[in-house]
Order: sequence, then C-alpha cells, then structure tokens
Amino acid sequence: MRMYQIQKCTRCLVLISLLASSCVTVTVNIGGVEVDCNLNCVCCKGGVTRCKSDNICVDGCVDTIYSHRCRNPCRGNCYTCSQNFGNLCYTCKATYYDLNSHCGKTCSVGCYDGSCNNDGTCSPCVGNFQGNTCNICEHGFYGLSCDLHCSDNCFGGTCLRNGTCPDGCIAGYSGNTCSYPCEPNCATCQQYDKSYCTSCFNEYSGSACRCPPNCRCEGDVDECTSCVHMYSNPDYKCQCHTKYCNGDKCNICTNITYFVHEGLNSCCPCSSSCKNAICSSQFQCLNGCENGMYGNDCSKKCSDIDRMCLSCSQDTGRCTHCTNGFYPDVYRNCSACKATCIDDKCEGSSGRCIKGCIDGNWGNQCEDSCDILCRTCERMTGECIGCIHPSLYGPYCNLSCSSNCISSECDMDGDCLIGCSDGYTGVGCKYQGGEVRNTAMQSLKDNDRLKPVLQLQVTQCTVSGISRNGHTMYDELDKKQIGIPQDGQQYEIIQSSTSPVDIKQVGEEEDLKSTADNEYYNEL
Ligand SMILES: *[C@@H]1O[C@H](CO)[C@@H](O)[C@H](O)[C@H]1NC(C)=O
Ligand SMILES: *[C@@H]1O[C@H](CO)[C@@H](O)[C@H](O)[C@H]1NC(C)=O
Ligand SMILES: *[C@@H]1O[C@H](CO)[C@@H](O)[C@H](O)[C@H]1NC(C)=O
Ligand SMILES: *[C@@H]1O[C@H](CO)[C@@H](O)[C@H](O)[C@H]1NC(C)=O
Repeated sequence: MRMYQIQKCTRCLVLISLLASSCVTVTVNIGGVEVDCNLNCVCCKGGVTRCKSDNICVDGCVDTIYSHRCRNPCRGNCYTCSQNFGNLCYTCKATYYDLNSHCGKTCSVGCYDGSCNNDGTCSPCVGNFQGNTCNICEHGFYGLSCDLHCSDNCFGGTCLRNGTCPDGCIAGYSGNTCSYPCEPNCATCQQYDKSYCTSCFNEYSGSACRCPPNCRCEGDVDECTSCVHMYSNPDYKCQCHTKYCNGDKCNICTNITYFVHEGLNSCCPCSSSCKNAICSSQFQCLNGCENGMYGNDCSKKCSDIDRMCLSCSQDTGRCTHCTNGFYPDVYRNCSACKATCIDDKCEGSSGRCIKGCIDGNWGNQCEDSCDILCRTCERMTGECIGCIHPSLYGPYCNLSCSSNCISSECDMDGDCLIGCSDGYTGVGCKYQGGEVRNTAMQSLKDNDRLKPVLQLQVTQCTVSGISRNGHTMYDELDKKQIGIPQDGQQYEIIQSSTSPVDIKQVGEEEDLKSTADNEYYNEL
C-alpha cells in the first residue's frame, strides 16, 4: 500500500478513498496541551526530535495515535494500538473494555473508578452494585445507580432494575411496582389488573368482590339474583333469615338491630347507616343516622349537599357539623372559620374560635372589633385589656392618664405605671410640692380634648399636645416661635412655668394672665 502525505485537508477529497482517516482533525493531549497531529512529527513518541527528515517517527507514536507519521487515531476507544495500521488494539481508554471490538463496550457504572478488565469484570463494586461486572443491584435496590429502594409491596422485597416486582405483590396490592391497592373488598388481586380479585374480604364473592355475602350473582354484573341456603330477599342483599326471628311467626326479631320483613317471614339487619343500626324497617331508622348520613333510611350523604359537611339533620340534610376549618353558617352552609380566629381554627358546629381571637377582635366567633383605641379586648365583653398607647386607660381606652404620671403612662385603672412626675407625690400623684422643672411630655387632661389629638394620630398617639385654637406656640429649645401647628403636627410641650401648663389654658386670654411665662405663648 502506498502512503500519501496530505498537507492540507482541502486536498483530502481527491485522496479520500486511500487515506480516509488522516483527513479528520486528529488531536491528542500531550502533557496537558491539545496537539494537532496533522502538523509534522508533533505526535511522535519522544516529540519532534524523534522524527526523521521524511517526517517519519522513529519510536512510534504517542498513546492513541498510530501510523508512520503519527497522524491517525487508534480506532474506537483504543488507548494504544499497533503502530503500522492500527488494526490491533492493545489497551482501552479508561471505562471501556473488549479489545476485539476496539474497546466498544463500556464498563458498568458499578465498577470502582468506572474501570474494568478486558472481559468487563471488575472489583470492588461501588454503592449497592454487585456481581462480577458490578452491574446488578443488591437485593432490595433498583435504578440505574441501584440507589432506589424496591417497593415494600413487592413480594419478597425483590424488584428488577426498573423497579418492577417480578414475583408479584403482597396481598392487597397491584401494579408493576405494586403501588396500587386492590379494589375495595378485594383481599388479593392480579398484579396487572387491580380490579380482578383473586380473593375477597367479608364473604363477598365474584371477580370484583362485589357480590354480597349469601348472594348468588349472575354474569359479570355482580348483581344479587338469588340467595344461598335459607337466606332470603335478593333485593335486600340476601341478608334476611328466619334464624334472626324470635318465635315461629317471626313478628319480632332476636335483636333490635334487625327488623321484621313484611311478607318474607324473616328478619333482616338494619342498615349500618342508621345510628347504632336501630330501625323499624328498611325505610326508617329510629335513632337518627350515623354521622355523615341523612334521610329516613339514612342512605343519603350529607357531603352530597355540602362537601365540607360532616353531619347533618336527618330529615332536611342541613349541616350541623363541618369539617376542620369550617362551620355551619346561618344558612347551614359550611363556611370557613372567621379570619379573626387564631390559626383559622373554630368549632365545627358553632364556629366558636378555638384558640381565641387575633388581637383587636372579640366575640364567640371573634366577629366583633375591639374599640379603636384598644390593642386587645376581653373575649366575651369587648372591654379593653390593653390600649394602643400607654397614656390611655379605661374599659374603652378613651380616658387619658394623669399628666402627673411619668411619661403620662398608667395602667388600665389609671394608676401611674412608673411613678409621679417631678414635683408630684401621693396617691394618684395629685399632690404638688418642691421645685418644679417639668420637662415631661404634657398630656391633655380631659377626654373631650383628647379626642382631636387621637383623630390626628390614632396609631402613634405619642403627641402630648397640639394647639387647636389657632394660638402660636413658642419652642423653648430653639428659642423661636412655632406659629400655628398644622393638623397632625407633633410638639413636645416644655413647661417652664411653676404650674402645669395646658395648651388650651394658655391659648385663652384669661389663662394667659395666670401663666407665669405667658410671653412664650402669644396670641396671633
Ligand atoms: C422492566 O424491565 C423488565 C425486564 O427488563 C421488562 O420486561 C419490563 O417491561 C420493564 N417494565 C417497564 C415498566 O419498563
Ligand atoms: C345484635 O346484633 C349485633 C350484630 O350482630 C351485635 O353486635 C349485638 O351485640 C347484638 N345485640 C344484642 C342485644 O344481642
Ligand atoms: C348554601 O349552599 C347551597 C348549596 O350549595 C347553595 O345553593 C346556597 O346558595 C347557599 N346559600 C348561601 C346563602 O350561601
Ligand atoms: C368612652 O366610651 C364609652 C363607649 O363609647 C362611652 O360610653 C363613654 O362615655 C366614653 N367616656 C368618655 C369619658 O368619653
């Protein structure tokens, strides 16, 4: 065979049938550098110095490359191959095996490091893999990485790589991975047909276990067409029998959970939907219905009227008790508990909030709002327990603490919380004595004057006083006149007279005279 040297791949088209493989770009990683083997001698083992003048490598090629000029990649996933023609594979690249197929097979991911022998075997296995080639999951595991647990419902706990239970399911389950329960009444069913029962509960029979006890059913419909033994009344599911009769005439039954069936001369069990299974006939329950049912024979479901209803009145079906988070409203429809209930929890019958009301609400269903000045109020009466500001008190928080209290703060009874302001002593801090230099915030005293303040700044309520009469105020700290305060403006009233100063007082002519420092408060 003649060898052609091809300098540029553009000429390859002409020669493609002779030297197909040298046309693709062949690169190899030598010492961390990606090298293009089409360049002369660069892929010689030992480098360009191990190359003769005609570009033939003296010592052969670097790994993965073959041919005299070292421009051809070994085939497949071979790591080293015969140097002349590359047809023999000597070793495989990591994670491949089978020299005959030029390393065309991949080692199992269960092999340590992902590498294996030429026949695919490896050791040790990682994770939950096992077997010579580490390609089988240990018992109880499945998945590509053998890291998923077989379903508990697989018979023997065994499953295939895709999770399928090969030995069938434990009793009561069905499906590939045994994750579906059999139909109700089926004790066991076929793995690939959950509605085909292989055994039944409760003496039911038929392939779907829908044929009631004591019945003979016809065809596939599982309809009770006749009864076994001495049982009677297929219409009543063959549950009637003379053995339940008390006396030959059967005009009374042995047990109050049975009723005498007219004309049949036998006793039948009352419906289990009747409360305590007590009835006078198949049409009439005597003690009301079991929860969730209504109607004379208790055969209708409350939840058919209202999905959230747990129990309802026997005759009308109107709901009396709702499921969690709901209660029967005035229309006897299940409504969500009031949003003002803590955690939205209320009694299913009355709607009474179970955990109490969120702050600011009161009443059984927390449907009433506390007075606007209350922070919290008494659950049953609505009386304030805490006010929105410490300078308020009383059952409606519409009384203001004495200005003689420090910071004008008092408890719910109006007693000063922290103590008396400078100069005041005694019960209720009513008594005055000693030198007075009161810089505490001045609070409006009577309620009729408190109101406008609160209207301006209800939530904050930190205002001590605002001139409402169009009077100029003097700011002692900045030594300047403030002018007429605007609605909502807040000022700290600094009292420098020897007696407490009230804004309203200083704003009025006659009181100006009696104020020691009246120059601070000028009429406009
Ligand atoms: C699971 O694997 C088994 C055996 O390989 C196969 O017969 C079955 O069809 C697979 N099941 C699914 C759901 O892929
Ligand atoms: C009536 O029968 C029921 C169901 O068979 C049974 O549970 C109950 O104990 C019996 N009651 C009396 C009073 O015999
Ligand atoms: C009560 O529920 C019924 C049935 O869902 C509905 O028709 C009726 O309009 C509801 N009444 C009220 C007042 O919501
Ligand atoms: C406080 O509010 C209550 C209820 O609104 C009212 O009856 C009472 O007169 C008020 N008290 C004062 C001092 O305003």
